[in-house]
Amino acid sequence: MSMNLADCDRAREGFPRPFPNTPTNVLEQLSLRGKVAVVNGAADGIGLAVAEAMAEAGANVALWYNSNDRAVQKSQELASTHGIKSTANKVDVSNADSVQNTLTQVVKDFGKIDIFVANAGMAISKPILEQTLDEYHKQMSVNVDGIVHCSKFVGEIFKRQGFGNLIITSSMSAHIVNVPTDQPVYNGTKAFITHFGKSLAREWREFARVNIVSPGFFDTKMGASPECLNEAYRMSALGRQGHTKEIKGLYLYLASDASTYMTGSDVLIDGGYVLP
Ligand code: NAI
Repeated sequence: MSMNLADCDRAREGFPRPFPNTPTNVLEQLSLRGKVAVVNGAADGIGLAVAEAMAEAGANVALWYNSNDRAVQKSQELASTHGIKSTANKVDVSNADSVQNTLTQVVKDFGKIDIFVANAGMAISKPILEQTLDEYHKQMSVNVDGIVHCSKFVGEIFKRQGFGNLIITSSMSAHIVNVPTDQPVYNGTKAFITHFGKSLAREWREFARVNIVSPGFFDTKMGASPECLNEAYRMSALGRQGHTKEIKGLYLYLASDASTYMTGSDVLIDGGYVLP
């Protein structure tokens, strides 16, 4: 950091860096034609909507799933509907070897990775005084270890390639304490990955962008539980949960050349839940 005006006077070699060589037309910027995207947690919910968005914008897409092999059929549908190449890969993100081996396979299949959406997550929503340590470890293994495994190994690929784009699905729970159900461990896992993602944006500044999406309640398996539903409607300024089609544009924007000046950002998309 410069301490005084004289310090600021010195030009740094190589600065300013050049503007990117991207189209000026915004719809051309949003095209992902020729790009390769990996989305995990892609069998259902937000991850499936994101995989659809990538394919609709022309990207070749690898859909990673854990146990729900609906992803296999979805991958085939995306390929035939949009004329893109798509695979479905079974990966447990809490297993580092499985993540690393599958990334190697994706590079073999597609030649490169432009975009990685680290979206898989899970919740066992209980107060810490009622939560077992096994439940704590389970959430950490998917929500924290899973993001670290994916980031570390895809980061190595991005560095080797000289380009890349990581998008992490965190949560509004990284910003606020959810009510009425106490779930400190889930909230803590999401706070970790939000700050981890911001930190990676700096670490990887020479070769990749990293941004974070923080959803509020979306109507998926992980959306508001029956006991939270009325409070979710009351807290959200828009009075409802989000539909997964309403989050596709944000991921597409972050994945595309429309967001080349964005890195280290954490974007809330929550229907105004955290406003009050
Ligand atoms: P979902 O339950 O449909 O998706 C979660 C996905 O993660 C599933 O496909 C599941 O198979 C996958 N997954 C879980 N454990 C895994 C493992 N060990 N290895 C690989 N994949 C694994 O729910 P949703 O809503 O689509 O969740 C996606 C992300 O959005 C999660 O990270 C969640 O925490 C986050 N989120 C969701 C919100 C909501 O209201 N739906 C709110 C805020 C964040």
